[in-house]
Amino acid sequence: MIKIAVAKGDGIGPEIMDAVLSVFEAAKVPLEYNYVDMGKWVFDKGYSNGMTPEAQETIESLGILFKGPMETPKGKGVKSVNVTARKTWNTYANKRTFQTLHGVDTVFSKAGIPIDITIVRENIEDTYGGVEHMITNDVALSRRFITRQGSMQVIKYAFEMAQKKGARRITCGHKANIMKLTDGLFLDVFYEIARQYPDLNADDVIVDDLCMKLVSKPDLFDVVVLTNLQGDIVSDLCAGLVGGLGFAPSANIGDHISIFEAVHGTAPDIAGKNIANPTALLLSGLGMLRHLGLMETAAMIENALLYTLESGRHTGDFGDRNTPSLNTTEFAGAIIGNFGKEPQHNPKPLLDNHSVIPSICRLKNNPMLESVENEEEYIVGVDMFIESNEQPAAVAEKCLQHTRDLFKLVTISNRGTQVWPKGSVFTNLVNQYTCRFESIGDVPVTQTDILELYKRLMTDFKICSTELLNKWGDKKAYSLAQGQ
Ligand code: NAI
Repeated sequence: MIKIAVAKGDGIGPEIMDAVLSVFEAAKVPLEYNYVDMGKWVFDKGYSNGMTPEAQETIESLGILFKGPMETPKGKGVKSVNVTARKTWNTYANKRTFQTLHGVDTVFSKAGIPIDITIVRENIEDTYGGVEHMITNDVALSRRFITRQGSMQVIKYAFEMAQKKGARRITCGHKANIMKLTDGLFLDVFYEIARQYPDLNADDVIVDDLCMKLVSKPDLFDVVVLTNLQGDIVSDLCAGLVGGLGFAPSANIGDHISIFEAVHGTAPDIAGKNIANPTALLLSGLGMLRHLGLMETAAMIENALLYTLESGRHTGDFGDRNTPSLNTTEFAGAIIGNFGKEPQHNPKPLLDNHSVIPSICRLKNNPMLESVENEEEYIVGVDMFIESNEQPAAVAEKCLQHTRDLFKLVTISNRGTQVWPKGSVFTNLVNQYTCRFESIGDVPVTQTDILELYKRLMTDFKICSTELLNKWGDKKAYSLAQGQ
């Protein structure tokens, strides 16, 4: 028996989890469940991260969490327990698989276009850090973290998975044409790792083009790897391609702890009625069984599920409206009744089970802290984010009084668009400018030099934020303003 932690979740969570576990029980899946307290009701009891310390301890000692959807209480200061769990346990790769399911009608299934897409989404970084500030009354600023090590982890996972799957193609979706440093770093790492897998067909597509191609020619894609926010959006788009959220499973994979859950939420509109579709959670559970090496059992259950769908049995959210729908419990019963049957389309091969014991090791030191710095790093200036409702020329005049011998004022931008020394009268302005000061002759400056400049500017402006302008060797480690 393999022990795993199970959290039933909120809303439809308990109903669909009971349905899935009844399928597992009937299939004699060799799992032992430790139920843990997580979710909205745990928040309500006063645990600010949505889980009890005992739940955290159990999950950390077992390494596998199978969870139902959980509600995030509305209101400031409460973070989603789903996101907290993924981040706390560094489940850096979010794998979501989308396949044509016969019996689930979509425009593509009707047109005979097969879909088999796996999205691997970075799960920790990006704007999901939620590092946001109102820097003036009118201007909110979000920080987007993309790191070399974080990108490496998830992209490496995607390539390994693509190789095991025998993927036709692995594609990086990105917006590096606009976000040259953040998405540019992710894309660089993608091609760095691609060199280690010469047999895989690796390419990249800009994310907007990717969306268009996914809805027009989804069969062109196989494995797609993306940063967190773009991956979140693109994977819901892919859920739509195969029939909706009721069919979208998800695995959050880390080196030590992995979490298996459906993509959908708690569906409060249908909770407590025993009518929810348990397919997405069942598919997530099957991903978990395979992760644990229970290949044959997973394939047997999946074949029964595919057979059930093919034969037109359905819950209320999909399928032929002329045939009566089954409730959640009946749908699970139908799957159990079809154990041993093989679907006509894409039957899963019954590969042998092999034992995998989840390996738990706590991080004694953090290898991601170690950076390989090849080139000399030095500071050559600073971006001062200031609040002002004056015109650009007036802001520039004040800034120029403070540059002295060390700094020159290079550019002033407003919402990322240059407005000084050149700008356009057609650019709309808000009350926050970014003034870029660079050292004359690009000579290295110190943080004390920056502080002196800060103190001088303070006499004229409220400074909302600053960013150092670094150079690594000859390479500028900052972006140019639009129009600069
Ligand atoms: P939702 O996914 O719960 O519901 C969207 C729509 O899809 C609703 O009409 C719902 O009835 C339907 N639906 C979802 N799952 C279904 C299923 N298995 N069978 C049949 N119909 C289904 O999204 P919503 O309403 O935006 O979020 C509700 C709550 O869920 C929020 O508190 C949100 O924070 C939470 N949530 C939790 C997630 C997780 O635990 N991983 C993921 C997404 C949302």
